[in-house]
Amino acid sequence: MVEKKISTAVIKRLPKYYRYLGDLLENDVVRISSKELSQRMGVTASQIRQDLNNFGGFGQQGYGYNVEYLYNAIGKILGLENKYNTIIIGAGNLGQALANYTNFDKRGFKVKGLFDVNPRLVGITVRGIEIQDLDEMEHFIKENAIDIAVLTLPKQKAPKIANDLVHYGIKGIWNFAPVDLKLSNKDVVVENVHLLDSLMTLSYNIKERI
Ligand code: NAI
Repeated sequence: MVEKKISTAVIKRLPKYYRYLGDLLENDVVRISSKELSQRMGVTASQIRQDLNNFGGFGQQGYGYNVEYLYNAIGKILGLENKYNTIIIGAGNLGQALANYTNFDKRGFKVKGLFDVNPRLVGITVRGIEIQDLDEMEHFIKENAIDIAVLTLPKQKAPKIANDLVHYGIKGIWNFAPVDLKLSNKDVVVENVHLLDSLMTLSYNIKERI
């Protein structure tokens, strides 16, 4: 379906389209014009048309977009028809909070295991998943065909763990440790998430208004 290389900027916007279209589907909306979608999403209609034209254009003149078709097509582009086995490394505040969030499972990111080095946490269960000692991780990854590792551990520990994960055959790392991980193995993709970056943007916008 994807005929040409899609720019990173467009890819970054796709989850937002997917989210809005999912809401429309839940409300039984069958079709939507780029104008209406743009009003809801707060982006220009021409941006929407341009973005969606990347995929051969799902819209029809005078009809708009078929919500379900577009939702499924974007889901496919994002690889969401795949299911991902996931583990969380570092079962402290953030690790446990993420493990408790059921929507990841619903979207196909199944949390299979939690790992920590703190013996006081090992054996505790979070949403039915037992926290295991880090020593068990290599075996667990191989036995359970784990695709994604979520890093919620101290930043000093993240590079070494990331390196180990590459050797254990992981496909992707969702990194929350406040360090931009760079891996030499280009087969493993990293997505760094820094909530503080977003908070600093908020701070800037508040400052601009004062
Ligand atoms: P926390 O101290 O509650 O949890 C960290 C856990 O990692 C602890 O349970 C600790 O035993 C474990 N740990 C330490 N070394 C480990 C290792 N080698 N292998 C496995 N587990 C190990 O900290 P919290 O609040 O959960 O934060 C976790 C990380 O996430 C920190 O690096 C923090 O800076 C970061 N963070 C990032 C955010 C973001 O937006 N990217 C937001 C909040 C926290």
